[in-house]
Amino acid sequence: MNARISPAPAQSDLEAFWMPFTANRQFKANPRLLTRAEGMHYWTADGRQVIDAVAGLWCVNAGHGRREINEAVARQLSVMEYAPAFQMGHPIAFELANRLAAIAPPGMDRVFFTNSGSESVDTALKIAIGYHRARGAGQRTRFIGREKGYHGVGFGGMSVGGMVNNRKFFGSSMLPGVDHLPHTLDIGHNAFSRGLPQWGMHLANELERLVALHDASTIAAVIVEPISGSAGVLLPPVGYLKRLREICDKYDILLIFDEVITGFGRAGKPFAAQAFDVTPDLMTTAKGLSNGAIPMGAVFTQRKVYDAFMQGPENTIELFHGYTYSAHPVACAAALATLDIYTKEELLTRAAALSPTWEDAVHSMRGLPHVIDVRNYGLIAAVELEPSAGTPGARAFEVFLKCFERGVMVRQTGDVIALSPPLIVERGHIAQIVETLSQVIRETA
Ligand SMILES: Cc1ncc(COP(=O)(O)O)c(C=O)c1O
Repeated sequence: MNARISPAPAQSDLEAFWMPFTANRQFKANPRLLTRAEGMHYWTADGRQVIDAVAGLWCVNAGHGRREINEAVARQLSVMEYAPAFQMGHPIAFELANRLAAIAPPGMDRVFFTNSGSESVDTALKIAIGYHRARGAGQRTRFIGREKGYHGVGFGGMSVGGMVNNRKFFGSSMLPGVDHLPHTLDIGHNAFSRGLPQWGMHLANELERLVALHDASTIAAVIVEPISGSAGVLLPPVGYLKRLREICDKYDILLIFDEVITGFGRAGKPFAAQAFDVTPDLMTTAKGLSNGAIPMGAVFTQRKVYDAFMQGPENTIELFHGYTYSAHPVACAAALATLDIYTKEELLTRAAALSPTWEDAVHSMRGLPHVIDVRNYGLIAAVELEPSAGTPGARAFEVFLKCFERGVMVRQTGDVIALSPPLIVERGHIAQIVETLSQVIRETA
């Protein structure tokens, strides 16, 4: 074991790290430190075992401490720790792209590598603009996102996203020419839906309104998460994504699915596009691609998108875009080992098999105090709590803290407790997660 990660830092040693998406002062006054992980569990600095009900941050789909990934990473580090992918190549990058193309939705067999979900989103937006420009429609620069959407923290992703805090803080620096569809969460109509909600397909028709407002000739792409996680698990109503696809086709608008959370088995198929039988033009991924072990992201595109760029003199760089660490060899090695595990253990479809058990378990929380909705799909669930008066999010935060004290790590966003366990989760783990969460909700005022 690496001795450098073992000792818990003293309180005074916590100051230098400016923690992301964290209430720094609150955390540092009462830190929650994780020091080891294996299978379905973390261990805390004070030696407590905590079950991981959120796959780290929706990324550790094959569970923690996978020996095969660790060994592949170590092997690659010793053979070649880095190689550039600009005007150079290394074999495993091509191997990985081919392996990914083989599990992708129909026709999505061109892959651009990034290092995160945010980079994947900004890359996809740039590809969408470049695609239209390459076809002589350079005026198509507008994007349509969706309220409550989360597409990472780059300026592009924030602009098409619909998170109020991002928009409030950075609104003046957003991309121009972005509009938003309404979100699809409607507890009034859909509370306690099992699987996809029946009500709300018509919300996709709002795209027709935006096309009429801006004119199709100005719109490059629509970007949505098939299921959004970060805003508190928002599900697409039955038929909604198909309708979006139809409208995009009608007006030659590209459809981008942000599958950073739903990719790699979360929805019961390799990608949510396959689970919902709707194929986008571009698909952004990260997280489960490398099981969270080494940062990596990938943008999948339809071949027609790639082909549109492949014209003009052969010595021109067709897409003026890339990252120093695009297709990093160590990340490629981690991703290949991850894919091997997914295949061998049939993890990319396991969520579908477990989904009925998961659904029954999470819906058993209906009727608990303050629970105003439970929603689920694949191995995803949300329990929405009534906000306590004047302090939105406080009740759910208390639930998150108490669960952690009792050995279950959940995720809190606003008044929602989100659950997305590693895809290796067993029935006993599901029971433990739901029992602890139920108990805590009962005890929380
Ligand atoms: C749908 C979606 N897109 C993009 C991102 C950003 O990914 P990253 O944090 O790797 O930049 C996330 C992160 O949760 C996400 O859920």
